[in-house]
Amino acid sequence: MRPEVAEISAADTHALRLSVLRFDTPTKEVVFPEDELPGSWHLGAHLDGELVATSSWVPREHGAQHAVQLRGMATHRGMQGSGIGGELLERGCELAAERGFSLVWARARDAALAFYERHGFVVEGDGFIDQATQLPHHLVVRPLG
Ligand SMILES: CC(C)(COP(=O)(O)OP(=O)(O)OC[C@H]1O[C@@H](n2cnc3c(N)ncnc32)[C@H](O)[C@@H]1OP(=O)(O)O)[C@@H](O)C(=O)NCCC(=O)NCCS
Repeated sequence: MRPEVAEISAADTHALRLSVLRFDTPTKEVVFPEDELPGSWHLGAHLDGELVATSSWVPREHGAQHAVQLRGMATHRGMQGSGIGGELLERGCELAAERGFSLVWARARDAALAFYERHGFVVEGDGFIDQATQLPHHLVVRPLG
């Protein structure tokens, strides 16, 4: 299953954010304050024209690095584990490198840590509980290029 990856709007991400990232969390908020920050972009993976995975990319320095924060990685619940999220993540990292960023970072749910590590991210620092979701997370970083 090779999805087509394309830029989408922030609003296009809301349905998948809700059904994948917010279905079992205390918060049901699907609008992230940084969605419309200048330079942010959103990517969707499509199969047969249907949006099946989303991700959001927000320019935000990390240490001294010109970095972008990856947020809201979500693959349709019936389609996880078939390579769609991996394709979306790799395309997003390629685009970030093309746009001049030297690092991608994310607050990764522990349940998804193996996914990020398989795609070149390394854990930085101790784990923490994310306020909005109340789920254990780690900061992960991937240098580009
Ligand atoms: C995390 C998430 C975005 C990954 O997207 P995905 O589409 O499931 O990603 P992939 O299919 O590329 O990879 C997921 C797993 O399937 C495996 N996989 C990849 N291609 C595969 C294939 N063709 N067949 C079977 N398994 C495959 C990978 O090895 C990976 O395993 P891992 O978790 O042990 O690393 C998705 O699972 C998800 O939405 N999870 C719930 C929400 C979440 O946790 N989001 C991240 C918040 S930080």
